[in-house]
Amino acid sequence: MGMIVAPYARNAFVNTKGMFARANAHKYGVGAYNTTTPEQTRAILSACAETNSPALLAASPSAIKHNGMRVLVEHISAAVSDIRAEGSLIPVALHLDHGATFQLCLDCIVAGFSSVMIDASKKDLEGNIALTKQVVEVAEQYGVSVEAELGKLAGVEDEVSVSAAESSYTDPAEVEEFVDKTGVHSLAIAIGTSHGAQKFKPKDGEAFPELAWHILENIQRRLGDFPLVLHGASTVDPDSVAIFNAFGGKLEQAVGVPEDYISRAIKGPVVKVNTDTDLRIAGSGAYMQFQVENPKNIDWRKPLAAATAAMREVVVHKNNDVFLSAGHGVS
Ligand code: G3H
Ligand code: 13P
Ligand code: ZN
Repeated sequence: MGMIVAPYARNAFVNTKGMFARANAHKYGVGAYNTTTPEQTRAILSACAETNSPALLAASPSAIKHNGMRVLVEHISAAVSDIRAEGSLIPVALHLDHGATFQLCLDCIVAGFSSVMIDASKKDLEGNIALTKQVVEVAEQYGVSVEAELGKLAGVEDEVSVSAAESSYTDPAEVEEFVDKTGVHSLAIAIGTSHGAQKFKPKDGEAFPELAWHILENIQRRLGDFPLVLHGASTVDPDSVAIFNAFGGKLEQAVGVPEDYISRAIKGPVVKVNTDTDLRIAGSGAYMQFQVENPKNIDWRKPLAAATAAMREVVVHKNNDVFLSAGHGVS
């Protein structure tokens, strides 16, 4: 069947296929940064423009619910126009994060997303394959790229609850069948990361456990350079947590994935690095600091500007120093 003109083309988004192929070839990671508000979107886009990195904006079902689909897509599209007006030509993708249903994926495709994740990881293998295949079939008609998940992350994913007890790593023996039967374009894997700010409960001075590197290597042996996705990849910077806690927050036992684990993952087959928590902590902390230091302020644009600057700094740092995507935005 011929390809229909993609709704995302009107907003000059691109799908993630070229982004991931280049990341694989040059061994860098593409940060997939979650956004809900214009402040987050602007922080991410302006940082990616500054570092000349590909921009992958991820919107969860709750981000869509918070804005309404039209406002979400329109604000992102307007923010992309702004960086274009400033001369940036970096590729920008708009991606659905943790889509739980075929209908939501379809709604996002029609609304102008260039990439969708169908998260059927709670289903059994057969059910996951069937639903993923259904999404791929329709997405391909629109040139939209599709991510699926095999294995379960511990913790609570967006509207996809997975009890810690159920949590299980990706089974490498399933990956070839899954990719062959679904035609999916990228695969999220579970190798020991989890969502949120508490990824590990250390007992006195205990180091963060190794990720299941043997599983990653086994998957790579089977799939070659097929693009893999690491969810729950925030590093939870202790300095950001300290600011958050110093100005009224109470984030206890906050521990993220060590930066050198992320570096190791992107030297292998991981091309997409999902990051939400780090921007939340930095943004909320900066907001609270501004408000505590300016207690009479009722103009919340001011603390929001401080939050935007803090989130922007996080993205610049990650693109430059961790994901090594800087300089790869426009070839
Ligand atoms: O993986 C989940 C993301 O961090 C999105 O979180 O549902 O609160 O927007 P959210
Ligand atoms: P973090 O909670 O580690 O930022 O992970 C975000 C994520 O995986 C979004 O899909
Ligand atoms: Zn996730």
